[in-house]
Amino acid sequence: MAARIVTLPGDGIGPEILAAAVRVLGALGDFELEERLVGGASIDAHGTALTEEVLEACRSSEAILLAAVGGPKWDTVDPAAPRPEQGLLGLRKGLELFANLRPVRPSPALLDASPLKRDRIEGTDLLVVRELTGGIYFGDSGREGDRAHDDCAYTVGEVERIARVAFASARSKVVSVDKANVLETSRLWRETVSRVHAEEFPLVQLEHMLVDNAAMQLVSAPRHFEVILTENLFGDILSDEAAMLTGSLGMLPSASLGDEDTPGLFEPVHGSAPDIAGTGRANPLAMFGSVALMLRHGLAMESEAAALESAVDEALEAGLRTPDLGGEATTEDATRAVLASL
Ligand code: NAD
Ligand code: IPM
Ligand code: MN
Repeated sequence: MAARIVTLPGDGIGPEILAAAVRVLGALGDFELEERLVGGASIDAHGTALTEEVLEACRSSEAILLAAVGGPKWDTVDPAAPRPEQGLLGLRKGLELFANLRPVRPSPALLDASPLKRDRIEGTDLLVVRELTGGIYFGDSGREGDRAHDDCAYTVGEVERIARVAFASARSKVVSVDKANVLETSRLWRETVSRVHAEEFPLVQLEHMLVDNAAMQLVSAPRHFEVILTENLFGDILSDEAAMLTGSLGMLPSASLGDEDTPGLFEPVHGSAPDIAGTGRANPLAMFGSVALMLRHGLAMESEAAALESAVDEALEAGLRTPDLGGEATTEDATRAVLASL
């Protein structure tokens, strides 16, 4: 039977790159796709960024493929107004997708497309393991007169489960990134990661690093990292930075996973790129990479996942460059190039 996938185009460049991904999927097998609204598109239709109905459709699917949400149309400082980002956060929390995997593997053809020097980035192959359902994103927040607050909290259980994902993903080393010199949540994080390491994964090397130093090392010595384990907000920021090792934010895919019987959510790391939406110039390769992660982690279709990744590498090898990579290829050109390699 064909796997059932919920597709969520969202906003901005979202529908453009999702349409491209659907064509690529069609070349890889038979899938039953169910398109639904999320983000600003859902606010316009239903007044909320994620309806119960869409959340339920996602829960009962085998995998969820999301493009991007958000944009200036829905940007507001009114705390009572709905925000597109609530759709994404509602999906992550609603399905308890606590483990966000963001692999950073510069394609050999793009080693000179990064603003960083080739000799710095060559050989980089790292994985950011970002905790996705805790921390400051989901703490108590509010505003009282001229004061606003966003609380950051973590429990031991939340840290243990994401630490296990990181150690299990590592061949030899995990760098756990925190701010333990200042934050109590980071001290709980460090203590818990150290204990999980000692009790369950003593053969993997563990290094603790403060987040400001990690931000610097990521661009000066990216080969130092194999698996980066970090909390929600640090992971958000460090992964956009890490994207530049691959040449563009338009290259980085992600997988958000929960328990074994929960469908995973697969989406590019980048947003809805309102500045280029509608121009046909969006790079669809992070979206295609997310399709590959869906095939691998969500649908147990490893050979199709690998075939798609090779097709992307081959197209880049043959010279494919969208504007974010310094070229002139359109989304359509990029899609055809990858389909041709497939
Ligand atoms: P962004 O990632 O959308 O864009 C940052 C820059 O990168 C822009 O110059 C954009 O043109 C470029 N870029 C991003 N993806 C690209 C692609 N595939 N091809 C070519 N260029 C690309 O970040 P932003 O501008 O800070 O945010 C815009 C909106 O997206 C906001 O509403 C934000 O909340 C939302 N957002 C959504 C997600 C998501 O849905 N997962 C992620 C990040 C940001
Ligand atoms: C990401 C995005 C989201 C985040 C936003 C859109 C809520 O930036 O997936 O990295 O901050 O997690
Ligand atoms: Mn982000």
